[in-house]
Amino acid sequence: MTDQFTGKTALVTGGASGIGKAVAVGLAAEGANVAVVDLRQDAAQRVVDEIEAAGGTALALAADVSKAAEVKAAVAAVVGSYGGLHLALNNAGIGGPQGLLADYDDSDDFAAYQALMGVNLHSVYYGMRYEIPAIIAAGGGAIVNTSSILGLVGEPTAVPYTTAKHGVAGMTKAAGAAYASQGVRINSVHPGYIDTPLLSALPKAAFDALVSKHPIGRLGTAEEVANLVLFLLSEKASFMNGSQVTIDGGYTAV
Ligand SMILES: NC(=O)c1ccc[n+]([C@@H]2O[C@H](COP(=O)([O-])OP(=O)(O)OC[C@H]3O[C@@H](n4cnc5c(N)ncnc54)[C@H](O)[C@@H]3O)[C@@H](O)[C@H]2O)c1
Repeated sequence: MTDQFTGKTALVTGGASGIGKAVAVGLAAEGANVAVVDLRQDAAQRVVDEIEAAGGTALALAADVSKAAEVKAAVAAVVGSYGGLHLALNNAGIGGPQGLLADYDDSDDFAAYQALMGVNLHSVYYGMRYEIPAIIAAGGGAIVNTSSILGLVGEPTAVPYTTAKHGVAGMTKAAGAAYASQGVRINSVHPGYIDTPLLSALPKAAFDALVSKHPIGRLGTAEEVANLVLFLLSEKASFMNGSQVTIDGGYTAV
């Protein structure tokens, strides 16, 4: 444990659960003020309570990150509370329609596709839109966007999710190229399947089938992804920008 983020303020979307929660807890443990932004205010507050019980500093903010105005308000609230913003993880995400593209229902599945794009792709755009000026104003910092192995390779039964996560990789490259010279490094992380509440709806057989796709023989943990995110947000990653960093137990190696 270090105090490498002391004096820094971080914003984590989807911070109430899974990967976002692990990153929020990790950043706070290393000294950052952390804004836990989530659709679920009560769950975000529970993470804040946990951080404060451990001696950290945090704030819960309710926002639907698929709505630009709510993201703008969340960033403004963080700057208002802590005086600036240095670090961000754009991470909130949902599953989405499963099945083969040409079999999708024209109403329900199209609506689910559009909702997925809002939460998994547009949210990252809105996040960076408002985070970048705040980070520049604070003297620089770093952003990580949560993509997926499905931002690198395709999953035949998850075309919408694959599309959104490839989009996250693209906007990470373009924005990283645009803002590194102003002191904002931007990278994306690409986890394999991680054992979080996102996968809780899966039947056991489907869960076991996912395990078999990872040469390491298990799914990842939220803490393992958090370790990578904390590294990318830290000064140790000072030459990393616009990168797509895989953390997948070998899923994409075969
Ligand atoms: N779990 C995996 O296997 C896995 C693998 C690769 C990438 N990811 C990605 O990691 C990210 C985090 O996933 P997780 O597994 O921790 O999931 P999770 O379900 O544990 O946490 C996601 C959080 O996002 C919040 N959220 C959902 N919609 C929101 C919205 N519109 N506005 C604000 N918050 C919202 C939820 O309330 C929840 O707290 C997602 O982007 C996901 O696509 C997950």
